[in-house]
Amino acid sequence: MSAMEEMLKNEIDPREFDGPEFQKNPFPLYERLRDHHPVFHDRFHNRWVISRYWDIDAVFQDSEAYTRGVYDPDGDYEFGKRHIFGPNILEYGVGEQHRFMRNVVAGQFVGRKLDAFLPFIDLIANELIDGFKEKGEVELVSEFSNQFPIRVISNMLGLPREDEDMFVGWYKALIAGLGFGGEYMVRGIEARNEMWDYIEPLIIAREKNPTDDLLSALVNADLQGKRQSMDEIKGFVALLLAAGGDTTDKAISNMWYHMMYTRPDQFADVKADPELWTNVFTEMMRFDPVVHAQFRRTTKEIKLYDEIIPERDGIIIYLGAGNRDERTFKNPDTFDIHRDDLHMGRENRSGRYKDGKPGHLGFGIGQHFCMGYAMARQEAVIGSSLLAGALKNFRPKFKEHEGISSPSIDSGGFRSPKELWMEFDVD
Ligand code: HEM
Repeated sequence: MSAMEEMLKNEIDPREFDGPEFQKNPFPLYERLRDHHPVFHDRFHNRWVISRYWDIDAVFQDSEAYTRGVYDPDGDYEFGKRHIFGPNILEYGVGEQHRFMRNVVAGQFVGRKLDAFLPFIDLIANELIDGFKEKGEVELVSEFSNQFPIRVISNMLGLPREDEDMFVGWYKALIAGLGFGGEYMVRGIEARNEMWDYIEPLIIAREKNPTDDLLSALVNADLQGKRQSMDEIKGFVALLLAAGGDTTDKAISNMWYHMMYTRPDQFADVKADPELWTNVFTEMMRFDPVVHAQFRRTTKEIKLYDEIIPERDGIIIYLGAGNRDERTFKNPDTFDIHRDDLHMGRENRSGRYKDGKPGHLGFGIGQHFCMGYAMARQEAVIGSSLLAGALKNFRPKFKEHEGISSPSIDSGGFRSPKELWMEFDVD
């Protein structure tokens, strides 16, 4: 190959980011980015693309230089007006309001609060499993993963159990409305409004008579005399459906996909030792995490490699690419639950670990580090262990599978298989 051909092979046409190939298998493009354009100026989408592990870590850790605030610092911005969830924490960079919103739920999804909720997580998983365990087959995505985390959130909020199905319906419409525009968007906003109308009297009731549920915590959180407004509380509930429901939903499907189709040999190890489900979760979050991209904006001029990124330019960080960086992980394209170069235990916010091993980037790092990291892991591991324990001799129903894909990675679309059929023996 001539030098010119070699150079052209590694050039990037920004339209590749919009193509179906990228949605299905973004990894070859990620590799070209890492190897040849670690800071790629994508003029077509008006942004800079960052793809190497330690560069992504640096962006996440420096939330002063790279802000997540979506508003124009000089303009008027009405929080929530342009967001399907309404006002919510994802719109804020770091600052007082972001700190306040984090503090409102700090402690709700970790530690003792989470431990106290674990029996309920068991209960919900078992109820769902009971619904199909006599059938001899199950479509895991719709009959389990789509249902389980959202029912958990609904119960954490303290909503009546008889309203759970309604909540699942709103959830599906709202998620479908994210990033797809058109009629999906309209239906998503309708669903959100219906949910808001439903939840408003419950918020008022919790204000008068608080209980120990999550909704009461959202309503009554008082930080130096400051409380969330009605719209902010509703926005948080809507956000929890996506941030807490949709992500964990897809995490479970992805784990099962990889066990059934990518590494059936390692599935045998997991069946023999269910403790290994936690490794399946961690390696899934590295190999092909649910969320591949996060967005930032520079607050000052940044010099990175040979590029100068001007102040206030948009940045897309492909954590899905950083997780496959061969500068950090050996054989990064191999799914391996026994790898010795990945921190396998619980994540921490700083991303640095005592065992000296790098962690996956799938929950972000730093100021905006995922607040539900512990809950997501617990749900995915508990749900998967119970499922595997309850079904006898389970196996994929079909030999072939079209694999994992995303609606659009750049729209924040979460990655997962569309369907996952499984068969098992019934006595
Ligand atoms: C496997 C499941 C999950 C994945 C892959 C995931 C992923 C992420 C990522 C990548 C971020 C960082 C955003 C950024 O840096 O801008 C984030 C933030 C967040 N996550 Fe999660 N998440 C999951 C589960 C959950 C759960 C279960 C909850 C709550 C119940 C939750 C609540 C949040 C919240 C509130 C934030 C915003 C934090 C902030 O801005 O300070 N997530 N998540």
